[in-house]
Amino acid sequence: MDFNLSEEHLAVRDAARYFAQNELLPEVIERDNAQKFDPVLLKKMGELGFLGMMVSPEYNGSGMDTLSYVLAMEEISKIDASAGVIMSVNNSLVCWGIEKYGSQELKQKYLTKLATGEMIGAFCLSEPEAGSDATSQHTTAVDRGGYYLLNGTKNWITNGNTSNVCVVIAQTDPEKRHKGINAFLVEKGVEGFEVGKKEDKMGIRASDTHTLMFSDVKVPKENRIGDDGFGFKFAMNVLNGGRIGIAAQALGIAAGAFELSLKYSKERKTFGKPISDHQAIQFKLSEMATKIEAARLLVYKSARMKDEGKDYVQAAAMAKLFASDVAMWVTTEAVQVHGGYGYVKEYHVERHMRDAKITQIYEGTSEIQKLVIARELLK
Ligand code: CAA
Repeated sequence: MDFNLSEEHLAVRDAARYFAQNELLPEVIERDNAQKFDPVLLKKMGELGFLGMMVSPEYNGSGMDTLSYVLAMEEISKIDASAGVIMSVNNSLVCWGIEKYGSQELKQKYLTKLATGEMIGAFCLSEPEAGSDATSQHTTAVDRGGYYLLNGTKNWITNGNTSNVCVVIAQTDPEKRHKGINAFLVEKGVEGFEVGKKEDKMGIRASDTHTLMFSDVKVPKENRIGDDGFGFKFAMNVLNGGRIGIAAQALGIAAGAFELSLKYSKERKTFGKPISDHQAIQFKLSEMATKIEAARLLVYKSARMKDEGKDYVQAAAMAKLFASDVAMWVTTEAVQVHGGYGYVKEYHVERHMRDAKITQIYEGTSEIQKLVIARELLK
């Protein structure tokens, strides 16, 4: 597999790096404290094409490949993992799914705006009693002829308040179990759609995560994505690609913490010399760099496989499983390298450590990734 980056790939990576360093870095700590993402920055991300990276230009997207997307995700998440998840959900879970499986009308009406950031999307699968056990949907979408009547509650929804349109997964025919599940596009502001509690999170605090409630919401029939009963398969297919995005986010968090640690180790002196001269620190840096490189190869591999039209289910799960563990380990070590300074916000690495944890949980926990990998190995 060819991991050489083309001129275009390098240009995307540099543009994302420039944006992250110059626009995201200055107030990243303030946004984390305030638990609020800056709408001006979100608008810029849209203008720069980061919100619809893989969407074809026909629908106002950047028309790039998955490898470009992960390169940008890595650079942005190195600085601000909250920006990373906002971007990842919009790109992988919303735009990609609509372009791949949505009708021409849905693409014209929603994708053209989601790709530019004029609209922001959310993906609503999880429920109070359906996290890992995603087939166990309690939200119902009853077929009433011209529309579906939607009732239920969705939990831990990234972009819950920021979004204008949500992909909602719901049960239409319980007897058919997961084959009776549908996916819909539901607009904010429609009657019966309420944004509930905002979660006070450990990490990725600048991204907003909410409970969403649906009470007798009428969803037009044309807002269903794909054929009747395709909703669960849709969610799984979309999440396979989403996991590549989250793996890239985890990689970025780890790489960001490592870069800070490398720099700090040359500046900080103990026992009369920079701590980078101590073997204890050198061993940490070596191990961090090696694990990050291994994670990067898995992430690039899964992106390349997706771009080449190969089956990437296992590769995506492996990339997310490994990169998220690397992110947790590297960020913990980064705090250790920084010592007492690492434990305070000013030095950034404590935020990276808090941000890393969620990558082992959302878009399928590490345990679910192991299950997916095992099923692929054994089938
Ligand atoms: N890709 C494609 N199809 C898949 C799939 C995959 N990775 N995994 C399962 N499926 C299909 C199966 O083939 C099956 O379809 P058929 O009946 O047509 O063969 C169907 O889905 C049901 O699968 P199972 O019978 O294996 O169902 P299960 O209940 O035993 O397991 C599961 C399903 C894999 C555990 C699934 O529930 C799962 O992935 N859970 C994790 C959910 C998740 O990732 N949630 C993330 C929430 S979104 C989020 O986090 C966004 C955010 O905030 C950033």
